Amino acid sequence: MTAAPLSGRHILLVIAGGIAAYKALELIRRLKDGGARVRCVLTKAGAEFVTPLSVAALSGEKVHQELLSLTDESEMGHIRLARESDLIVVAPATADILARMAAGMANDLATAILLATDKPVLAAPAMNVEMWAKPVTQRNVAQLAADGIQFIGPSAGDLACGETGAGRMTEPADILARVEALLAAPVQSLAGKTALVTSGPTREAIDPVRYIGNYSSGKQGHAIAAALARRGAHVTLVTGPTAQPDPAGVTVRHVETGREMLEAVEHAMPVDIAVFAAAVADWRAAEPMAVKTKKSGETPRLALVENPDILATVAKAGPKRPALVIGFAAETESNAEALIGRAQQKRAAKNCDWVIANDVSPGTQVLGGARNTVHVVSANGAESWPTLDKREVAERLVERIAAALPARAPAA
Ligand code: CTP
Repeated sequence: MTAAPLSGRHILLVIAGGIAAYKALELIRRLKDGGARVRCVLTKAGAEFVTPLSVAALSGEKVHQELLSLTDESEMGHIRLARESDLIVVAPATADILARMAAGMANDLATAILLATDKPVLAAPAMNVEMWAKPVTQRNVAQLAADGIQFIGPSAGDLACGETGAGRMTEPADILARVEALLAAPVQSLAGKTALVTSGPTREAIDPVRYIGNYSSGKQGHAIAAALARRGAHVTLVTGPTAQPDPAGVTVRHVETGREMLEAVEHAMPVDIAVFAAAVADWRAAEPMAVKTKKSGETPRLALVENPDILATVAKAGPKRPALVIGFAAETESNAEALIGRAQQKRAAKNCDWVIANDVSPGTQVLGGARNTVHVVSANGAESWPTLDKREVAERLVERIAAALPARAPAA
């Protein structure tokens, strides 16, 4: 008989105040069926949706609610509660608790624990579609992700408030699968490895006030850098100008132009793993103006020259070539077969091991958006992934990198 997958593991479940709190009850049951010990923290608002009695009955443990409870502080203490678990799950993670976490607040038991913990945290957001889409919520999520908090969902569908869109909490079965993967994963599977990631757009000056740029947000590249670092790799992220916060535990080089990016990349070499997620401007102005160009009645003509291909330069670097070189192929091509075909050509032309191909046509909302639909193209063919949050694409990619790497020689 095989042991229950979560046997011997301690999970602390923070239940915040949202209608999806009822799903937390099912999550408790599933975690316990998996063999875990589950202790729960119920926020004040959470207790408006589910009762402490049901949480206690299902978990088989005392429910923790108060930050300054005399008995709790003498018996357990919120610091011990924060440290004694293998993983903290926040489900549902409401807009409010995410905002308080992002601000580093500790004004109730749940946030005090989340601030005091040194353990991994998985958050399953659930809220109204507008609340999720609000720039402030997206900023908070980006900041928390950069600080090392992991996210699952939200998924899209009908919401309890009667609206439709992204905001539904991920189903308990899927949260359970992520918990199992997180706790089963050899967390430091890339310890001792070095990695380089490029991210974001580049800007090529036309004159002191204008530039050639693109819509890349840096979300995908930054998420990959963070995921590599979480698995123990020593990561250098070379990024063009983006609104993304610097990921925790990553050496970040901020650059502006394609040529600066190449220089920073060459400086970071040699590495074992190189992932090129940046949308480098293919061309730059041949002769950028030293002063602002004025209207003169005539339409000016802009002479362009090609930028160096950073990915191809690294992938063809002879003995200095990283063991694993991964490129991206952003195409405006909705036909998957044609997209994969072009990615295969790009893979061969640029000498990379894998190409992550995606359709970035305006209708897909991939450029600048939170989600991505990718095909992983390698010498063995193509593997198409479902549409996922960019952070989940990063997790899966890094799992694949960790699995592929031991078979290869380390960087010289
Ligand atoms: N890339 C790079 N340096 C460049 C251009 C692209 O490192 N100067 C990398 C990107 O980071 C990406 C891959 O090359 O990983 C594919 O870029 P893409 O712009 O799609 O391909 P191109 O070679 O520019 O081909 P085309 O635009 O003709 O499709």
